[in-house]
Amino acid sequence: MFKKLFLSLLVLFTSCNSENKSEKSFYPGEFWLDNNGVHINAHGGGILYHQNKYFWYGEHKIEGEIGNTAQVGVHLYTSVNLYDWNDEGIVLKVNKNDPSSDIYKGCILERPKVIYNKKNKKFVMWFHLEPINRGYEAARSGVAISDSPFGPFTFIESIRPNAGVWPLNVQDFHKKPISSDVKKIYGGGPEHLPKHVDSLNLLGRDFEIGQMARDMTLFVDDDDKAYHIYSSEDNSTLHISQLSENYLTHSGKYKRFFPSKFNEAPTMMKTSSGKYFIVSSGCTGWNPNAARSASADSIFGPWKELGNPCISKDSLTTYYSQSTYILPVQGIKDAYIFMADRWKPENPIEGKYIWLPLKIKNNKLVELEWKEKWDLSIFESN
Ligand code: GAL
Repeated sequence: MFKKLFLSLLVLFTSCNSENKSEKSFYPGEFWLDNNGVHINAHGGGILYHQNKYFWYGEHKIEGEIGNTAQVGVHLYTSVNLYDWNDEGIVLKVNKNDPSSDIYKGCILERPKVIYNKKNKKFVMWFHLEPINRGYEAARSGVAISDSPFGPFTFIESIRPNAGVWPLNVQDFHKKPISSDVKKIYGGGPEHLPKHVDSLNLLGRDFEIGQMARDMTLFVDDDDKAYHIYSSEDNSTLHISQLSENYLTHSGKYKRFFPSKFNEAPTMMKTSSGKYFIVSSGCTGWNPNAARSASADSIFGPWKELGNPCISKDSLTTYYSQSTYILPVQGIKDAYIFMADRWKPENPIEGKYIWLPLKIKNNKLVELEWKEKWDLSIFESN
């Protein structure tokens, strides 16, 4: 009897104590309410840290399958502590008047990311864009600009990166004439590609019009050079492409990596000791698959493939999610949050977010352990 009472008191004490330790927590995969009590609507997102604030930009989804297309635009939320987010509204609106606009309502506008250009004090947004009614065939990149992180962002143009420019690691066979069967577009998944991409030479196919760019992220290095990292060549190959000084176009310096490995949803980070990591997904549309990771000492490689960083149950589906960004937590050395989407294509507005601490192991590997609930104190030992 006394033993039971003692045990209950102990449980009560420890749970109160752990609650006090940190009042706020992340709950991966649960609804995440903003300051208005509404589930955050910023899918495929990325986060900019600017003047003591985090700015979370992402795809605004609406109810029903039509919500997989852009009906509204890019949504912004801000936070000072990463747990509580204020709805700041739509910062890039789709065009509702001019059907010839590349970002006309109903287009596909995915994975927006924003970076800050210190030199000209502009905020630059890049995103994957598929102008209306062409499915995923166009594989273009959109760019928009603003004087403020709160927007509004003005759409500049959409392009195919690096038209007429060979990558630094081009091979001789890429420059040979292209046979007519290569001129078609393959379906965007490994099941549609009959051969290794280098036997098909999709790089050469797109040399003149510019390379395909779908799933993407942006990364700004310590020297302020910015990079656009995207799934190219019918999603088969990842390109790492340096942006121009003003971040509004491509510098022409780029390299292709992991040919025919079909990396999607790329994310990139760099540790305080200068190691770069990529975490990405395989290519299975909205369905989750096993994440991959890779490391390098230089952004242009060589990149070493490291395999699936997930180590808990459901590792083969990345805990039912797909990567979108790696967020460095400010003020804590080597503290990174892996951000991913648990898509819900039948009602995309209900898509949830998976945020997990990304552990760097001996500066060699990245690891993602599942957590139902966690908070930033996890990084205290860093
Ligand atoms: C995923 C991609 C998403 C979206 C989806 C459409 O592979 O990561 O951003 O494009 O395909 O099926």
